[in-house]
Amino acid sequence: MNRYILAIESSCDDTSAAVLRDDFMVYSNITASQKVHEKYGGVVPELASRAHQQNIVPVVDIALKEAKITKQQLSAIAFTRGPGLLGSLLVGVSFAKSIATGLNIPIIDVNHLQAHVLAHFVKENIEQEVPEFPYLCLLVSGGNTQIIQVNSDAEMIVLGKTIDDAAGETIDKVAKILSLPYPGGPHIDRLAKDGKPVLEFAKSHIKDYDYSFSGLKTSILYTLRDKLKENPNYIEENINNIACSAQKSVVEALLYKFEKSVKDTKIKTIALAGGVSANSLLREKFSQLGNKYNCKVFIPKFSYTTDNAAMVACCGMFKFLRGDFADMSLVAYAR
Ligand code: KG4
Repeated sequence: MNRYILAIESSCDDTSAAVLRDDFMVYSNITASQKVHEKYGGVVPELASRAHQQNIVPVVDIALKEAKITKQQLSAIAFTRGPGLLGSLLVGVSFAKSIATGLNIPIIDVNHLQAHVLAHFVKENIEQEVPEFPYLCLLVSGGNTQIIQVNSDAEMIVLGKTIDDAAGETIDKVAKILSLPYPGGPHIDRLAKDGKPVLEFAKSHIKDYDYSFSGLKTSILYTLRDKLKENPNYIEENINNIACSAQKSVVEALLYKFEKSVKDTKIKTIALAGGVSANSLLREKFSQLGNKYNCKVFIPKFSYTTDNAAMVACCGMFKFLRGDFADMSLVAYAR
């Protein structure tokens, strides 16, 4: 008999619920995004947790209905325990504990970043190919930039990470300077398509596989400040070229270190994960890099790039199959 788990994701500003079968087939993946933060230019933690409280019941309800699964058919509840915004996480953790208590089934805690890395195992059809272990994952989100060697669903080694800002943060900062709405990534991506990479920005020289984006951020800021001194309309007149140049610099920085890790480890399967993996230039260049080194390349579907409960369900399912359940006394963690 098949077993199903319900997963809940509430680490930032998306309330999401998904139902997954024990062969990793996804039955539903419902997300309510919060528009309330747009006018503030970033996520406001207090507003995020309140919105999660409003959204969680209807989102779970729709996820179960769409999956055509009753609560009584569930074998466990998986949820994001952290990292993320504490107030937001608390909503998901409390909800998961209470529904599991009511149904007398176990809970499974999931690390949000591990969920991004394992998103490639979510199946929409049973034949779908999934990565073989070990694989190298480039995880790029709003708050994290990491190169991870994934030896198994339970063993992941962080080879490199950013020592300051994340790639997504850098792109969002550029978008803010250009007065684009939050989150800026999709707008930069769109504008860059009609631009040319005419501007050169500083490159970082950090050792090993680590990243640093603060120098690039400052370089973009100073370049634009100087251009505006010469021409106060510089941004309006050159917005496509600025977006294109900044995007190119971020993507090149990301892939420079990742290529180094592919060359050194000789691992032949590579995967992209996290919100910034929606970026069209990054997707294109990542595939090219894979071809260059004869690697099998996994690029997530757009629906699995940003925060979603299907990836949480997937990570939860690996733990469920190992019998790795959490204690009801467990608490959320922000970092
Ligand atoms: O993983 P994610 O959904 O959230 C957290 O980090 O919590 O990633 C969000 C990030 C934001 O910085 C957003 O601007 C960026 O992903 N992003 C993009 C694109 N779509 C989303 N960045 C570049 N190009 C995109 N198309």
